[in-house]
Amino acid sequence: MPYLSPPPLALASTRLAGKVVLVTGASSGIGAAAVRRFAEEGATVVAAARRADRLADLSRELSDAGLAVSAVACDVRDEDSVAQAVATVVERHGRLDGAFNNAGVGGAHVPFTELSTEKFDQVIATNLRGVFLCIKHEIPAMLASGGGAIVNTSSIGGLVGGAQNGDYAASKWGLAGLTKCVALEYARRGIRVNAIAPGPTDSEMFGRWMNTEARREMIADAMPMNYIAHPDDMARAALFLLSEESRWTTGVILPCEGGASAD
Ligand SMILES: NC(=O)c1ccc[n+]([C@@H]2O[C@H](COP(=O)([O-])OP(=O)(O)OC[C@H]3O[C@@H](n4cnc5c(N)ncnc54)[C@H](OP(=O)(O)O)[C@@H]3O)[C@@H](O)[C@H]2O)c1
Repeated sequence: MPYLSPPPLALASTRLAGKVVLVTGASSGIGAAAVRRFAEEGATVVAAARRADRLADLSRELSDAGLAVSAVACDVRDEDSVAQAVATVVERHGRLDGAFNNAGVGGAHVPFTELSTEKFDQVIATNLRGVFLCIKHEIPAMLASGGGAIVNTSSIGGLVGGAQNGDYAASKWGLAGLTKCVALEYARRGIRVNAIAPGPTDSEMFGRWMNTEARREMIADAMPMNYIAHPDDMARAALFLLSEESRWTTGVILPCEGGASAD
């Protein structure tokens, strides 16, 4: 039984034409797919992460293909680094219209009493506090640009509970609360704030956790749609929430998990 999704959809449009978009967690997986997708949809994209070599390769490849992509090094756990990344976008392109706050790390997947305080703090520092810092610095830049759209990456782990997932779930459920509160606060000031909640998606994080063929097939079998998502499937969901097509949608956590949270 194949466990990966079909190849990326061959649908094209220009839903982000004229928009300047920052993507965090852009050096691999869902973030790298989003950089590619958003740029193909007409956006000027700034790709952010810690691994500068990966970002350089991605932005070179896409720039060579005629797309508007550049890179900025950023550690979302460090407020100065986040502030500098947002400032770099505005210096380069004069505005910020969209942000995909996608950087994240996996949980420990250990019994609860074996979950160290250090690991819990690490997961919260990236997945929750990191998105808080991004939003904090993105909003002033978006207000100065006349409004914008923010999409955060939550998880199916932020929609349902799961054994041995307390650190990761706490970060992603917290992110849902953050998303809804900021959405309400800025709804009348032209900034929409939503999140996608991916289910199992073929990425480095997923590969580290599901590190054998047998485990990957087991997860695919457990999915209602019987396969693991392609990162581009998540990029397309984020694209919808960033684009004007969702102009009446804010404060939503969009399940993108093949039906896994439906029952
Ligand atoms: N794959 C799944 O099954 C799945 C399911 C639900 C939710 N998600 C969520 O999807 C998002 C993307 O993950 P992925 O699956 O695409 O995994 P991935 O391939 O491991 O990508 C994670 C990205 O986050 C970046 N990152 C991690 N810590 C960072 C930090 N401190 N500062 C800046 N960037 C940082 C990494 O870049 P550097 O290491 O270069 O900094 C990398 O680009 C995460 O928020 C994850 O929780 C994934």
